[in-house]
Amino acid sequence: MEKRRLGQTDIEITPIGLGCWQFSNAVGLAGRFWPSLDEVDSRAIIKTALDRGINWFDTAEVYGWGVSEDRVSDGLQDAHVMPGEVVVATKWYPLFRSAGSITRTISDRKQRLSPYPIDLHQVHFPAAAASIKGQMKAMAKLVERGDIRAVGVSNFSASQMRRAHGALQEHGLALASNQVEYSLLKRRIEANGVLETAKELGITLIAYSPLAQGLLTGKFHDNPGLVRQRVGWRKYMPAFKRKGLQKSRPVVDVLKRIALDHGVTPAQVALNWLVHFHGDTVVAIPGATRPRQAEQNAGALSFTLSPAELAEINEASQSFL
Ligand SMILES: NC(=O)c1ccc[n+]([C@@H]2O[C@H](COP(=O)([O-])OP(=O)(O)OC[C@H]3O[C@@H](n4cnc5c(N)ncnc54)[C@H](OP(=O)(O)O)[C@@H]3O)[C@@H](O)[C@H]2O)c1
Repeated sequence: MEKRRLGQTDIEITPIGLGCWQFSNAVGLAGRFWPSLDEVDSRAIIKTALDRGINWFDTAEVYGWGVSEDRVSDGLQDAHVMPGEVVVATKWYPLFRSAGSITRTISDRKQRLSPYPIDLHQVHFPAAAASIKGQMKAMAKLVERGDIRAVGVSNFSASQMRRAHGALQEHGLALASNQVEYSLLKRRIEANGVLETAKELGITLIAYSPLAQGLLTGKFHDNPGLVRQRVGWRKYMPAFKRKGLQKSRPVVDVLKRIALDHGVTPAQVALNWLVHFHGDTVVAIPGATRPRQAEQNAGALSFTLSPAELAEINEASQSFL
């Protein structure tokens, strides 16, 4: 797979990474979104992702309160990956916490991910009991100390991103990334200034839930009863109910038709579109509960969508802008 620079750093990442929320072992409120590790074979998924060319992994403190970070390290060691051979991103959980917690919790992050260094550390969402300036000052200190290589944020608005970037510049750094929800069924960032600001400041946007949590694979449209067999909260979400599926069906139908022409899957077309439509700014981190899914998602760049196809997909999902 080709590689891109993460923001203005010298870190090189493949446009498709692996989202590792799925390795939470159903621990904690966020972790219960996915099945336990009895059903999700994190080692096999990580190995498949590596074999298919993926070079980076996105985890977080809150994904099973450290369990996902443990599994990332375990999976990489099991696959005989040497420290520094891949890129590892994690996140600090900010709710009700001061900026001092960034410094206090870094040793736990490092220990769990050991022997792999933390390349990117992100503020998970803008809800800390601290100013953005204070959070960025604490992050900058971690860079200075060599605990992390780059600083990112997640779920930040355009103005919050700008403030974070400005605060880091005072320390001679730049904001590397903003991890945001982005897919053909969630296109808010194209209208709310986030995409525009990222382009202007040279910040990479990391698209989370890039398959709309599985909807863009078309499997829930083909078999609406499937979601009830899934562990977790998707079955309660409007997008997975009859009306929601009706709304997204036209997008899925276009993906299916284009996928057929290329001999690929709708999920691969959706990911290919996402990381190409806006140039190099957007990369994506699809999650997987099975090795086969990671294999498929990693293969999303094995074909080229024509300008006409990119435009047709864009047109079909206009109602999600
Ligand atoms: N920063 C944040 O606030 C935030 C929020 C959410 C997620 N994230 C990150 O983004 C990553 C991805 O987001 P996500 O997990 O919410 O959504 P997603 O990547 O859009 O969907 C992942 C789910 O879709 C299904 N799937 C994936 N590939 C498939 C394929 N090729 N064929 C069939 N089904 C497939 C799997 O679920 P089933 O097999 O169960 O159907 C998988 O668990 C997470 O792992 C996490 O690292 C970050």
